[in-house]
Amino acid sequence: MEDSVPAKLLDWYGAHARALPWRSPPGAPPPDPYRVWLSEVMLQQTTVAAVIPYFESFSSRWPDVAALAAAPEEEVMAAWAGLGYYSRARNLVACAREVARRGAFPDTEEELRRLPGLGAYTAAAVAAIAFGRRAVVVDANVERVVARLFAIGEPLPGGRKAIRERADTITPDARSGDFAQAMMDLGATICTARDPKCLLCPLARDCEGRAQGDPARYPVKAPKKARPERRGTAYWIVREGAVWLVRRPGKGMLGGMRALPDDGWSARGDGHGTAPLPGDWRPSGAVQHGFTHFSLHLSLALYQGGHCPALDGGEGEWWPLDRLDEAGLPTVFAKAAHLALAAEE
Ligand code: ADE
Repeated sequence: MEDSVPAKLLDWYGAHARALPWRSPPGAPPPDPYRVWLSEVMLQQTTVAAVIPYFESFSSRWPDVAALAAAPEEEVMAAWAGLGYYSRARNLVACAREVARRGAFPDTEEELRRLPGLGAYTAAAVAAIAFGRRAVVVDANVERVVARLFAIGEPLPGGRKAIRERADTITPDARSGDFAQAMMDLGATICTARDPKCLLCPLARDCEGRAQGDPARYPVKAPKKARPERRGTAYWIVREGAVWLVRRPGKGMLGGMRALPDDGWSARGDGHGTAPLPGDWRPSGAVQHGFTHFSLHLSLALYQGGHCPALDGGEGEWWPLDRLDEAGLPTVFAKAAHLALAAEE
């Protein structure tokens, strides 16, 4: 075992593990499952650097699963603003409530998988890291390490099956949480997408990709399709130091989040909707934002009338401009709001 891949990797982890707020040090007892679960949900499709401040603020505001389960969904959604993939926040609340009802997190991968929002990756990560269960944990970093280590040439996404099978062959029975996080750290710090630092890698001698001379060619990826562009308009209506904000419908893009009123681009995507009230609108530039499946060109229109009686009965709220950063606007609308504030200066 001493010279095996997992042994070398765990040794390396002992000396080089990143100290992260949701982690136990190498070899120490596992951390609180709540903190592991919360961090792993946040880390889906999001970098460690972006997650740390959100993790700190969530875990101090809602220190355990019962506290999060008792929180109003809107508050959790607002606190999530800026992290993206907002269905994660809705599932987070649903999952916290289910776990609070049961009394504790289940401790097997199979049962974890049945909780709201826990896909294969998250269930495996929580089972390994919080409960020490042997589980094959494969995120994008691990995928890269394994594809290089075994020189797996089948392009992604099809190659994922082979990658998982190979990851299974090196996953140890013991310290499976440390092993998973060691693979993640190796991928994030040494076996990086560009310019892997093979001279520092504990697995360099085992790496078939390196033996072939060009480890960075793995994982091979199928050519990307260009993201289509959608167009839309957001409307900025200000009265007495407050801006009109709406809450987006629960299902669909950015569902449940507070937002500027818009022309319905998310449903239609053709940029030909209507303004929330008749009157005089001043076009004031546009912001660009990348979503997973499309890129959005969101134009901004500023209301030029003084008073907006038509909105008083509508669904929304006048939000004080001097507290706009507390509104929990998703990034695309935060960008539009910045543009509007600059245009009004
Ligand atoms: N990415 C996903 N989960 C992680 C973890 N536990 N540590 C570091 N990076 C991660």
